[in-house]
Amino acid sequence: MKNIAILCSGGDVSGMNAALKRFVEYSFAKGLKPYFIEHGYEGLIDGRIHPAQYSDVAGIISRGGTKIQTSRSQRFMQKAYRKLALDNLRSHQIEYLVVLGGDGSFKGMQKLSEESEGISFSGIPSTIDNDIAGTSYCLGVDTALNVIKFSIDSIRDTASSFSRAFVIETMGRECGYLALVSALTSGAEMCLIPEIPYDLDSYKKSFKKQIEEGREYFIAVVSEAVKSSEQTAQWFKEELAIESRIMVLGHIQRGGNPTVHDRLMAFNFVTHAIDGLLEGKKSSVVCFSDCGFNHKPIDEIAFKKYQINEDLLKLGREYGSYK
Ligand code: F6P
Repeated sequence: MKNIAILCSGGDVSGMNAALKRFVEYSFAKGLKPYFIEHGYEGLIDGRIHPAQYSDVAGIISRGGTKIQTSRSQRFMQKAYRKLALDNLRSHQIEYLVVLGGDGSFKGMQKLSEESEGISFSGIPSTIDNDIAGTSYCLGVDTALNVIKFSIDSIRDTASSFSRAFVIETMGRECGYLALVSALTSGAEMCLIPEIPYDLDSYKKSFKKQIEEGREYFIAVVSEAVKSSEQTAQWFKEELAIESRIMVLGHIQRGGNPTVHDRLMAFNFVTHAIDGLLEGKKSSVVCFSDCGFNHKPIDEIAFKKYQINEDLLKLGREYGSYK
């Protein structure tokens, strides 16, 4: 029986627990012995590795977060600690490692795979930021988008009752994907993301016209990446004489009951990861596109920049141009 381990690294996402459940069940189905590594790369360095059982994953599919916990490891950036991590994998005779994480985690996985022999790695893109090159979908994004949708729909009730502008800040680190999709699908009047240059004068012209036509409130979705929520709220007050409030959605976007889509994607990502390892893929990431799932070498993913799909950007460029 060969040994296979899984760890979660970086920001948690809803769907990680569904992935852990599938990992344990599919490993056993394939004749592998599954192991959990707790606290991500930190736990790997410290040897927090133990065999996983069916009972460990019973009842967790509906829970956000990750049962085996996660971390952002500074130590893992140093070769000496990665050596300890590899020694720990070897001492448990682990031949396969599945890593759920975002771009920082994949950079770590790329380094580890360069320094290891006899161990194969498979990455599963897992970040609400949806900013991994090579895949159009990362685990957790659908749940995050639904949390944002729910929040904006609720805020709209207050915005419309009070004639206010609400500036809603979404997560995304350097990437505007969450903000753009949320703005479009929530009917926001304004969307500020780093990928699209914006012109406040053109927004002002457009909004003044809308006010003349009877509009009483505004919803602005601003990505944390543009770092301008405060200024935007101020702008509504000063330039349009509209009372404004800021809602920083924060970590609420990362948690909660995973959507059906994320549960299913978790199952598919894990199935492809394990199949790829068994087929002999040494160091790859499971990616998703319109053509389905495929494996890409970690070197093609870890140091590349993600680009938001052009069709979405095209829709986003229409913001501020209401005539
Ligand atoms: O990468 C996921 C993410 O939630 C980003 O959107 C955000 O900028 C960051 O993590 C927050 O990190 P932390 O949980 O360490 O505060």
